[in-house]
Amino acid sequence: MPILYDEKTKQFHLQAGSSSYLFEIDKDAYLAHRYYGGRLSQPTIAQPFVNVARSFSPNPDPSDDHFSLDTLPQEYPVYGTSDFRLPALEAKFADGSTLIELRYQRHRIFPGKPALRGLPATYIEEASEATTLEVDLEDALKGLVVTLCYTAFTNHAVIARSVFVANHGTERIMLRCVHSAAMDLPDAEYDLIHLPGAHVRERELVRVPLDRSVHQMESRRGASSHQQNPFMALVRKNTTEEFGEAIGVSLVYSGNFQMTADVDQYDNTRVLAGINPFDFEWILEPGEGFQTPEALFVYSKEGLGGLSREFHRLIRTRLVRGKYRDQKRPVLINNWEATYFQFDQQTLLELGKSAKELGIELFVLDDGWFGHRDDDRSSLGDWTVDLQKLPDGLPSLVHAINDQGLRFGIWVEPEMISPDSELYRAHPDWCLHVPFRNQSLSRHQLVLDFSREEVCDAILHQLAKLLQSAPIRYVKWDMNRHISEVGSVGWPAYRQREVAHRYMLGLYRVLEQLTVMFPDILFESCSGGGGRFDPGMLYYMPQVWTSDNTDAISRLSIQFGTSLVYPAITMGSHVSAVPNHQVGRVTSIETRGFVAMMGNLGYELDARKLSEEERGKVQSQVNLYHEIQHIVLFGDLYRLRPPYHHRDAAWMYVSENKEEAFVTYVKILAVPNPPMERLPLQGLDAKKRYQVTLIGDEVNRFVSIATSEMEINGDELMQWGLLIPYLHGDFLACAWSLKAK
Ligand code: DGJ
Repeated sequence: MPILYDEKTKQFHLQAGSSSYLFEIDKDAYLAHRYYGGRLSQPTIAQPFVNVARSFSPNPDPSDDHFSLDTLPQEYPVYGTSDFRLPALEAKFADGSTLIELRYQRHRIFPGKPALRGLPATYIEEASEATTLEVDLEDALKGLVVTLCYTAFTNHAVIARSVFVANHGTERIMLRCVHSAAMDLPDAEYDLIHLPGAHVRERELVRVPLDRSVHQMESRRGASSHQQNPFMALVRKNTTEEFGEAIGVSLVYSGNFQMTADVDQYDNTRVLAGINPFDFEWILEPGEGFQTPEALFVYSKEGLGGLSREFHRLIRTRLVRGKYRDQKRPVLINNWEATYFQFDQQTLLELGKSAKELGIELFVLDDGWFGHRDDDRSSLGDWTVDLQKLPDGLPSLVHAINDQGLRFGIWVEPEMISPDSELYRAHPDWCLHVPFRNQSLSRHQLVLDFSREEVCDAILHQLAKLLQSAPIRYVKWDMNRHISEVGSVGWPAYRQREVAHRYMLGLYRVLEQLTVMFPDILFESCSGGGGRFDPGMLYYMPQVWTSDNTDAISRLSIQFGTSLVYPAITMGSHVSAVPNHQVGRVTSIETRGFVAMMGNLGYELDARKLSEEERGKVQSQVNLYHEIQHIVLFGDLYRLRPPYHHRDAAWMYVSENKEEAFVTYVKILAVPNPPMERLPLQGLDAKKRYQVTLIGDEVNRFVSIATSEMEINGDELMQWGLLIPYLHGDFLACAWSLKAK
């Protein structure tokens, strides 16, 4: 069993892959954190934790002035009983008091991993893949029972944590803050890494040293957001891509979240992860319970690269579900940047025809096909086809596209409602709002009240009808605004602060039902690009539109940042037209192709407007992608050179059996009279000999001494590296494909 309990020391030892996590029961009451790091061979930690008497730290046990919760490294700290640091749990009781005293009651260790009711979470397929520990803590005075749930994965260095809070008392309890997990690390010698961003600038990797203060990453926008991602990592000062300790924390949630690293007076680092307590409360009537989302803790000694690969394997195989989890995804074309709202059946069929000639497999009809949506001012909520644009109806278009040899996909934005829509005219109170208050529009739209069952059911019904009407094989599920003026007329006054979380529960229910109803549809999540690129959405939809920014050079940092947590198979990345619509940059079709091959390749341009030469290049790109797709989607990623210095970027994927690899190099800004540079590879089999093929029309073959075909040993490739060929100009790229002999 990878979870051990030692009666004598009262220590729990969770062994997850190459990591160990230990905590113990102190004074028969308190859970004290002891260790999180590389795997320990012994069941317990021999050296006891030493409590030191500290001034200004109160002592709950009058007979022990060395003991204070203010200095104890804890597993689930609460408010009010001698710990002044940030709590994981805050509540208000019927008498107005807010103190909580939790004491250990009992625990259970069992094989497997229970599912979380109504919430996305990692899963297992065989009981032997994981072991779970549940620890019950109780506030006896109020009948508040808190169950901490820990799952240790056998073959992943991952601990999944969540909490269930139950009211076993006789009076109402108001929860004000319920984090999914807390962990007190014994020092603060870490850098904090997180992924802030903005629309079209998502997940920019930021690394800052921890200091003695509260570092908080959060969303208050009703979605996990472009602005922050529910992820943080604590890495040692000397941790690099390849070496060093890294702890990653990821929250399986798509709404308001909060991640905290709080360094205290003795340089202990408290980590908290969960639903954002901002504008949150939850009423627990006697007999009721509250389930938190799941927090994932990943440990690696192999630097950021190792951390990412652990996350990738877990997310790809034990978070993402459904038929497409293990399948190659179709190369698609999306009409958004080609036509925006201005299209008719003829245009779409012409686009489809030229896409098919390029080898593209799926045609996606984006925004503008429904209601009377000629711009973004109307029709959200009316999911029936616009007969002005498509007079023969949707099924006829789908069949015509199918006849061209393409599968068909469609865009929807089901959580939204336009004030100019039939749905709004029929149900003006179905949007989130507070009566008599202004309702702010964003992109001219309001947000449907998914906290209400009847609203969710009505949308589900409309979508089911749409998806049954024709052989639709792909759905892009968009969300183009954040949630302001949170309020619901479906819930009583005292439950208004539950609405943001209830919205998420409603959304998750709709997604669960829809994906079960339509198992053959490939769902792609989107929120103005990557505004909801989080593990919660990935549980229902196996891929995400990474960003509305399709510029290849901007995409380097967006995709590198995203890849810190999320595997290539979850990233939608498209080749678009130049000058690029978001930043105006001109890059070559090769560079755009190589960058888009870092995830699920697609095209987002008017294929009719490509020159003959470009068409030839796109055809070769699609062919190349088919050859390497399995390495990218199911292999291991090694980030060789990050793009952050605007100089260049390089990365590679290696197949699991190390037989194949694909390496990409992008020169961002040209350097005059450049030095000769080598690119040491990673992740290969040192003993294998690889056939190395240089690919790329941009390599200056007169100046470059790199040859196109060579046999090179794995150790040479990793130690000496590949010679980077000469690329004359800005924004140029090349690649190498490697095959073991
Ligand atoms: C935002 C998406 O990210 C775009 O790709 C496109 O689908 C538009 N919405 C359509 O409104």
